[in-house]
Amino acid sequence: MEKEIPVTFEEKAEVNPRVGKTVLVKPGDTILPIKYKSYAKAIYNFEYKGDDVCLFTYPKSGTTWVAEIIWAMTHIDELQRALTENLSQRYFFIDNDFVQELPMEGHIEKLKAKCPGAKEDGVIMQLAALEKGRRLIWSHLPFDLQNPDILDKCKVVSVMRHPKDNMFSRYMFFKKFVDIGLPNMAWTFMTGNPIYGNYWHHVSEAWKRRNHPNLHIMFYEDMKVDIMAELKKLNEFLGTNLNEEQLKEVAKHTSFDNMRQNPTMTMTSGRLQGSFFHKGEVGSSKGQLPPELDAQMDAWIKENALKVDPAFKYLS
Ligand code: A3P
Repeated sequence: MEKEIPVTFEEKAEVNPRVGKTVLVKPGDTILPIKYKSYAKAIYNFEYKGDDVCLFTYPKSGTTWVAEIIWAMTHIDELQRALTENLSQRYFFIDNDFVQELPMEGHIEKLKAKCPGAKEDGVIMQLAALEKGRRLIWSHLPFDLQNPDILDKCKVVSVMRHPKDNMFSRYMFFKKFVDIGLPNMAWTFMTGNPIYGNYWHHVSEAWKRRNHPNLHIMFYEDMKVDIMAELKKLNEFLGTNLNEEQLKEVAKHTSFDNMRQNPTMTMTSGRLQGSFFHKGEVGSSKGQLPPELDAQMDAWIKENALKVDPAFKYLS
């Protein structure tokens, strides 16, 4: 029997300049496009299989990087496919059913070919349900909006990135399309108002599950310091059994320069594609905010990181 999703929805009065009308999902204060409401229960009940690999992250944390890594590790003998096949074809991005900011890139046609009478609604979820092979699934929804049994069914990878760099990356991504200054973006971020909502809710939902053997948490900063060490841990977690040479190949395939050159290695296209890769560095937000706001953000980080866990990575 389908489980009821234990949340309430509050429609926001203001219209988001990018995604239109939104809904506030409580508890957790996750803000999502209004269409999410009609998919919430289906996503909460989505059936996972033992060999699925899911990637759940707060946007701008390094999702695309880890997505390409997971794909490369699970497709080591066919890396050239990534040069022509967009990441959106290699992953099931289930949020696309309600975010609808990405081009469908033949998803509807693919679905109709497999299932001629299919509805043109919830296309990615339907495609994922029809897939017989191993599925790589990507979502920016926090754990409390995902199937509560997921970790008992399959492996999940989560990536975290320092909130200030995360916010700055979001700003650099959207500034060409949304007229929002950096201070305003920082406030929106700190008050939990960007799309996908509260950063701390998202990370704490993953963090509290960190001891589950089917969850692997990665930090963007660790990947920048020693990618091989992080690839080795992921290799073990995924059970991909790649050797040192193959892991080096994965590191090369997913290097910032290689991914930046390749338009098939993002979930975006068109204008958004052009602004996707900024610097890909740790500390990119340094010196960008006015000093007072910068200090406010530091205090906000400290206070919230403490609430997640006194040992949480971004406490200082
Ligand atoms: P910047 O905006 O700081 O450059 P997401 O995929 O979650 O949206 O995260 C996007 C951020 O990850 C962007 O950060 C992007 O440049 C960075 N990124 C993507 N691929 C990367 C790679 N191979 N190495 C380092 N950073 C990468």
